[in-house]
Order: sequence, then C-alpha cells, then structure tokens
Amino acid sequence: MQKLGIYIHWPYCLSKCPYCDFYKEVRKDVPQEQIIAEYLEDLDFYHNFTTDKNIISVFFGGGTPSLIQPQYIDKIINHIHKKWPCAKNMEISLEANPNSNRKNLFSDLKAAGINRLSLGVQALNDKDLKFLGRTHNLQTALKSIDEVIKTFDNHSIDLIYARPHQTLPEWKKELSAAVNLGLKQISLYQLTIEEGTVFAKKGILPLEEEAAAEMYSFTEDFLRQNGYPKYEVSNFAPPQYQSRHNLLYWQGDDYIGIGKSAHGRITHNGKIYATTHRRQTEELTPEERAEELIIMGLRLTEGINKKHFAEKCGIAFNDFVNKNKLQELKETGFLVETPSSLKATPLGFLVLNKLIEEIC
Ligand SMILES: C[S@@+](CC[C@H](N)C(=O)[O-])C[C@H]1O[C@@H](n2cnc3c(N)ncnc32)[C@H](O)[C@@H]1O
Ligand code: SF4
Repeated sequence: MQKLGIYIHWPYCLSKCPYCDFYKEVRKDVPQEQIIAEYLEDLDFYHNFTTDKNIISVFFGGGTPSLIQPQYIDKIINHIHKKWPCAKNMEISLEANPNSNRKNLFSDLKAAGINRLSLGVQALNDKDLKFLGRTHNLQTALKSIDEVIKTFDNHSIDLIYARPHQTLPEWKKELSAAVNLGLKQISLYQLTIEEGTVFAKKGILPLEEEAAAEMYSFTEDFLRQNGYPKYEVSNFAPPQYQSRHNLLYWQGDDYIGIGKSAHGRITHNGKIYATTHRRQTEELTPEERAEELIIMGLRLTEGINKKHFAEKCGIAFNDFVNKNKLQELKETGFLVETPSSLKATPLGFLVLNKLIEEIC
C-alpha cells in the first residue's frame, strides 16, 4: 500500500514575529468549531482520491497550531482513523510555541493523540529571543522543553541561527546547551530576511555569507559528534527519530494539505496533482514533478534514490538530468553519484540551489 501523509495548517498566531514570512493571521477570535468542520469536509474530499493509501503521518503546522483546542485535534485524528487505514505507529506531530500559556497543554495534546511535539524555541538566550521578537524568554522556553520531554517520547526544537552580529563562540555555547537538553531531534534554520517582513523594512541584514557557511559546517560536525547526525539541510537526528512526515516531502511521497496555505501532492489514476486551498487541483507534468523531486531529494543527506525517482514521476533519472553538468559537478566535488543514488557532498550542501539549477 502506498504511503500518505496529512498536513493540517493552522495559520493563526497571537503575535507576528518580525522575521516570519509564513502565511499567518494574528487574531484572537478564531471560530475554531467552524474551521474544524471545514477541515473535516476537506479531508472527506481528498479521501475520495486516496482511499487506497495508508496514512503514516499527520502533521499540525502553522502558524501556531498549539492554539487549537485539544478537543478539535482529537476530532481530526479520530476522523482520519475512521476514513483511512492508518499505520500502527503513525506519527502525529504538532508545532507548539513555548508561550501557549495553557495549563496542561502538553498532556491534553498527548491525550488528544499527538505523539511528537516540535517546539519553536528559536534562541537559547534572552538577548536574541528579544531581538527575534519572541514573546517567551529563556526561562519559559526551558520550562516548556522540560514539560515536552516529560510528556512525549518524541520531540524536537527549532532554533534560528546566523543572526546578525551572532559570533561562532556564542553559537557554540547555544548548541552545547541544545545537545544537553535530551531532545530527539534538533532543527536549525539560518535566518533569512524575507521581503515584506519587519526585519526587511528595518533594513536588517543577514549574517555575511562566509560567516554563515562557517557556522553551518561547524554545526554539522558538532551535532554529529554529539549524536545528532544531519539527515536533511536543517534537520539533525538519529535515524529512529527522523521526522517521518518531512521525509514524505523530501522523498516525494503523496500528502494531503488542509488549511489556508497548505498544499498537497496526490497521484491518482497515473496522474500527479498539486493541490492548494480550498480543494484546488492542478495536474503536474512528469517533468515538473521530476524537478520537484530533485529539489527535495538533494536536501537529504542520503540524496535522491533513482529508482524511487522514476516510480514517482515516470521518467528515468538519467534521462532527466543534464549529464554534462552533472559530470562537471561530480568532478569539482559538489555531488557524488552511485548507480542507485545522487547526493550532495558537504561542499555541495553550501550551494544546493545552484546545483539544482544546473542539473535540471
Ligand atoms: C512555520 S514556523 C512555525 C513555528 C511556530 N509558530 C513558532 O513560531 O515557534 C516553523 C519554523 O520556521 C523557522 N523560521 C520562520 N521564519 C524564518 C526565517 N525568516 N528564517 C529562518 N527560520 C525561520 C522557525 O524556526 C520556525 O520555528
Ligand atoms: S514564527 Fe511562528 S509565531 Fe511567529 S509569526 Fe511565524 S508562525 Fe507565527
């Protein structure tokens, strides 16, 4: 049976972080009951095209999905169980903000069916939490991390690094603190200054490219030595704790996307569809899907599995890529090819977008 994931997007936040470019709405009066009813209708719609698939993962992302009342999380998970065959060890993740401020939030989420919690910590010092416009301080973050670890068996935190003026010794200190927390996964994102954000309007510049690359290389080595090998550009965990949901995207499996800025990829009757809110579907050509598979697959440390690639888009890997460019990039040490795979070297990971552009 083919694998399927379900992404549930909750776009609402209590405040707007100055760096964040994700689609979101800052409002307190969210009509949760009505929105959840619409989500269930949308799940039913997509069920019609995916009855033959097995759900291996559900992911509540945002925005701030820790603001959804746990009773509605429970309702969605139950609905999914009723509609589809679900893997016994189905991963059910939720992204939470440390200041969600509700008593028993984590135990209620666990009781509702969440079995993996990803906490948006962003920095492990008060100065930078303030700079990033977060509404939690270090003490709140550490308290939430402690509760998460006590409540869930599988957990992860997000940190943003390569902040302007951040030095490597400062980052080393934070990383050392992060690996001592006892988390199963650590996700680290280089700060990007996105057009239209408060940071961009204030003229804040990202850390210089060379310094950011140095931080990335250090981070990768340090985390590997401390039990968190890199499995994707920004994600570090031993194999048993890699996010199964995100692996679905990077390995090119199907997923349903529900909610305002969610999208999906569904293969049905030999055709590949891209879906957007609300129930909009557009057929993709095999070439369009092939390019996506390269963009996603090269993000993984294990790279692109050529057999999997051909199964997902219907084109043989060697027929799709620019062979001369590929040869050049292998010779210059950016890519490594085996009969079954193509992957980026550590040098290649520093210029991934350029590599993709050249071989597609
Ligand atoms: C979809 S956001 C939602 C997370 C959650 N609402 C929170 O704020 O903790 C997922 C992650 O993207 C990262 N992120 C968002 N904007 C970013 C930016 N401009 N640069 C780097 N990372 C960013 C943050 O680490 C964040 O936790
Ligand atoms: S980073 Fe998270 S909390 Fe902040 S605005 Fe973006 S989605 Fe909302």
